[in-house]
Amino acid sequence: MEFIHKLAAQYFQLVELNHLDLPPGSVLVRPEVQAALYEHMFDETIFPIPPHSYRSRVLKQILSRIEESITDPEQDEINDDLMESWSTLVSQPKPSSLQQAQQLSLVKYTAPNSTRTVTTSESRGLILSGGTTGNRTWEAALHLGSFLASNEGEELVRGKRVIELGAGTGFLALFCARHLGVQSVVVTDREPFLIDNINACIRYNQNGEKPIPIYPAVWEWGTSLDRTGELDGVEGGLKFDVALGADLIYDTDLVPLLLSTVGDLFDNYGVEQFIIAATLRNEDTFRTFLNGCGELISRREEILSNMLTMSETNKFTVETLSFESTPSEDQTGFFHSTSIPIRTYRISRAN
Ligand SMILES: C[S@@+](CC[C@H](N)C(=O)[O-])C[C@H]1O[C@@H](n2cnc3c(N)ncnc32)[C@H](O)[C@@H]1O
Repeated sequence: MEFIHKLAAQYFQLVELNHLDLPPGSVLVRPEVQAALYEHMFDETIFPIPPHSYRSRVLKQILSRIEESITDPEQDEINDDLMESWSTLVSQPKPSSLQQAQQLSLVKYTAPNSTRTVTTSESRGLILSGGTTGNRTWEAALHLGSFLASNEGEELVRGKRVIELGAGTGFLALFCARHLGVQSVVVTDREPFLIDNINACIRYNQNGEKPIPIYPAVWEWGTSLDRTGELDGVEGGLKFDVALGADLIYDTDLVPLLLSTVGDLFDNYGVEQFIIAATLRNEDTFRTFLNGCGELISRREEILSNMLTMSETNKFTVETLSFESTPSEDQTGFFHSTSIPIRTYRISRAN
């Protein structure tokens, strides 16, 4: 019953109903399958439990598939625990659509081909709220997380001092701190309430009592990263090996600020490589950033196959990493849409 694990991983990630890999009624009707569904998804002692409205929608769909497949009511029946869960759900007051959209929910993401999980707190229904787009985890972060979950990706951060920019829910930094053996990860965003939210999520990602090496701090691009109280405990001071960023380039107005911060990270904070994942909604906006990298670091750009080599002194390169998105239907974790292409780039100093 391997499919239960994938279905449960999608369910705890609150994947939309039409993208869940729900088996047909002929499979769901089997008593052992129903018992496993209850045990892995609907038992209320499971933590974190998805929000009421989402649980109801998924369970309703499962029950109606089972009902449609019942051919012999004497033999086929609906599992008592599932029915009990359904009765409890329908007897509870249903939040309004607005409440549902604004509600913060704990979302548990499972890495591809593994049991490693990351829990964030987000409002899946909100795209822009409080002037930020950081209330939910975006496709580019899930794509970069899938890369970091691979051996090649993990090697980039294992044992390293990492900093994440514009982290939103902190999904990537939490994954690095909990599962990828980083020395430390400073996780930043300009919005204080997002940083508070990441701080609150740390406890859901701990390994027992053992603290994870994550340091949330407010940082707005274009300003200097001060050693505030939040960063006092960072081992080795404010020096980093690797910077990470996902879906930071969605507005051309932000590009100059981000560019100045990229320059700052290389010049003043010791960063050797910046790994950035971008959803190519608008190629021109992203081009502005890549071209800006060229102007920031040098005045000339040479295009060599898929590698852009920049600078007269060949100090920096922007390289497209060959990691491709797994098509949605074949994904086994960190589920995300690939309908808009996502690319990952490495900006580094050339040898
Ligand atoms: C589209 S969200 C991406 C969030 C996260 N990286 C992800 O992919 O799920 C962009 C994030 O960048 C942050 N951001 C935007 N402008 C910023 C700035 N000038 N300084 C720091 N962070 C900024 C926003 O607050 C938001 O959290």
